[in-house]
Amino acid sequence: MSDFHALKVASVDALTPNAVALSFDVPTELRKTFTFLPGQYITLKKEMDDKEVRRAYSISSAPSSGQLTVGIKKMPNGTFSKYANESISPGDVLEVMPPEGRFVFEPNGEIKTIAAFAAGSGITPIMSIAQSVLEANEKNRFVLVFGNQNPGETMYRNQLLDLQGKYANRFFIQWVYSRSSEADCLFGRIENATVNLILKNKFKELDFDTFYLCGPEQMITTVSDSLKNNGVAEEKILHELFTSSDSEVNQVEGLDGKTKVTVVLDDEEQEFTMDQKELVLDAVLKNDIDAPYSCQGGVCSSCIARILEGEAEMVKNQILTDSEVAEGLILTCQAHAKTPVLKVDYDDV
Ligand code: FES
Repeated sequence: MSDFHALKVASVDALTPNAVALSFDVPTELRKTFTFLPGQYITLKKEMDDKEVRRAYSISSAPSSGQLTVGIKKMPNGTFSKYANESISPGDVLEVMPPEGRFVFEPNGEIKTIAAFAAGSGITPIMSIAQSVLEANEKNRFVLVFGNQNPGETMYRNQLLDLQGKYANRFFIQWVYSRSSEADCLFGRIENATVNLILKNKFKELDFDTFYLCGPEQMITTVSDSLKNNGVAEEKILHELFTSSDSEVNQVEGLDGKTKVTVVLDDEEQEFTMDQKELVLDAVLKNDIDAPYSCQGGVCSSCIARILEGEAEMVKNQILTDSEVAEGLILTCQAHAKTPVLKVDYDDV
């Protein structure tokens, strides 16, 4: 079930002229429900103009802080982000889904050397991950490459400088600005040459355990390809998309029939019939089944289900690995049913 809870906004702090940090009060009885791993996100829900709007935002606070904070950048034409930046005040109550997401750092006691490439608001989960990595072991090291237009538009800049002061020998930041020339910073965007500079020059003595990439799709693709060209194994590269393009849309053919769908959710089974032209999640919601979802754009991972019977094909998948698809996982917001019968399980994912 998409399990929302009413949480009171504890504080709203300006990060830049166009971005705020929202912190929530989590009452004692919900503390366990809202426990999170660094890198996870929460989904916020709000009725706006008679329509339900859901948006996923990464948690920027570290679990050790006891805070639940998200960073929200005002997007051009962004309904919710505009509302968050201009209208939310401390004391307001928002509907919040508990943390989820697989772009995470899980400390296991081993010494880690981590790198992250982030652009714009892609810094939000990295803030939580970086703090947690640095706190987890006094020998852990973290290299951050962070791209923005200019220092004034850089979310969490002061907090990153504080962190750099606190962990001077273990936390390194390579600032990259596309519209401002600054001393000791790179000018331009994060590109192939930036990755080469980090791996082959500035930090060539480091052996990185994991690379976290977060930001627009183009940056993720560029950095990921460049890392692989430098011999980095694919399983060491984790990414979180903040915007998605339609470049990888797969045209699913032969969607003329109907499918009898069985949905397993919260240990209950519900059935309905849908047109194969519809997306599975749309049909599930139309039938008043309270399945989890957030972005409806294949960017978060809230809507994952497991196929127990039948077949479905996704128009777009930038989240699930080939082996997860092979074992039957689908993003229901991107999937068309392909067989007369389809059974999907939201519980076993
Ligand atoms: S709802 Fe976000 S990936 Fe499907």
